[in-house]
Amino acid sequence: MRTFRRRAVLGAALGLAACQRPAQGQPLPAGALAPLKSLAPFPVGTSVMSGYLDDPVHADFIAAQASQITAEWEMKMEYIVRPDGGFRFDAPDRLAAFARARGLGLFGHTLIWYAQVPPAFERLDEDRIGFGEAFDNYITAVVGRYRGQAVGWDVVNEAVAEDGDGLRDSLWSRKLGDVGYMARAFKTARAADPDVPLFLNDYNLEQIPAKLDAFMRLVDRLLEAGAPLSGIGSQTHVAADLPPGALSRTLTRLAGFGLPIHVSEIDVSLERGKGLFGSRAELEAKQARIYGEAAQAFMALPAAQRFAFTFWGLRDKDSWLVRENAADAPAPFDDAGRPKRGAYAFASGIRG
Ligand code: G3I
Repeated sequence: MRTFRRRAVLGAALGLAACQRPAQGQPLPAGALAPLKSLAPFPVGTSVMSGYLDDPVHADFIAAQASQITAEWEMKMEYIVRPDGGFRFDAPDRLAAFARARGLGLFGHTLIWYAQVPPAFERLDEDRIGFGEAFDNYITAVVGRYRGQAVGWDVVNEAVAEDGDGLRDSLWSRKLGDVGYMARAFKTARAADPDVPLFLNDYNLEQIPAKLDAFMRLVDRLLEAGAPLSGIGSQTHVAADLPPGALSRTLTRLAGFGLPIHVSEIDVSLERGKGLFGSRAELEAKQARIYGEAAQAFMALPAAQRFAFTFWGLRDKDSWLVRENAADAPAPFDDAGRPKRGAYAFASGIRG
């Protein structure tokens, strides 16, 4: 079990001093907020791509703010599995080396996902190798490569249907059974690394009650099937119009399994919501409220269940949402790495 760095009294004092959030509309004091990981009694994560490491300022910012990193896409099949079925590990190894050099945890995302199935699996010559064997070989190769370094793995990602009506159909479910492929993935990952926490990860759990119900039923089914599921990831890609309390209620329900909880990919879009008609300042205030509620809800979990709180991009310009819509600003820091209201609210939320 990882021991969490105890927050130094000085760090808390600095954090408290900096948590006096600036008045509405007032400019934010640049850099007045202590690094997020120094304020939290749990690991703070961020998504990273190896290209970020070409910019030493960005690399230093990531290492200063976060205690663990998640590969945004370069530890997925879409990167690793080549068209001929071979594997490439240059980028994930670079991320792993960065994590080791900076004393950061490395969170593996994701082994089995319905999306972006590589052609090599789609076109597998099963006269040469069985599908299940190829499936196991991939998981064993990837998990085994980072054994002893990875602090956790999203073994199965987004297995529940979009609206919560059952489980997603995928190449994996068609070949190995709708829960069978998942149980197999968890057992194969466990065989490749006897110690690493193994997660089931999904999204919209705070927005679609039927999906949360289906996800929780799936956790039960996997545990009953003997799958070594040892953690639950709630991605938490939300928008600023998320109703107050939705996040808290979801984390409380998920915590009922007694397993570690990973807020695994949080961002708060200012553009994706339906009722986002306020001014930019009003939307940013709503965004900050959500980051604050998320921190408070995470702090309300038993300490042993606070696996990590991972931002899907620390700065706006690092976000997939900004690549989708340049008008969005979902992250806790602005493009220059200055803390926004959301970062202050996150820090305040940690203190309740
Ligand atoms: O950087 C390469 C570029 O060099 C290349 O020319 C281009 C053409 O293929 O690809 C570029 O990489 C893209 C990468 O994002 C970086 O922008 C990949 O194609 C693209 O597939 C990848 O998208 C990622 C996506 O997952 C699919 O893997 C997003 O960055 C990432 O934010 C997103 O993250 C997902 C989580 O894994 C699961 N939860 C939802 C979340 C958001 O969709």
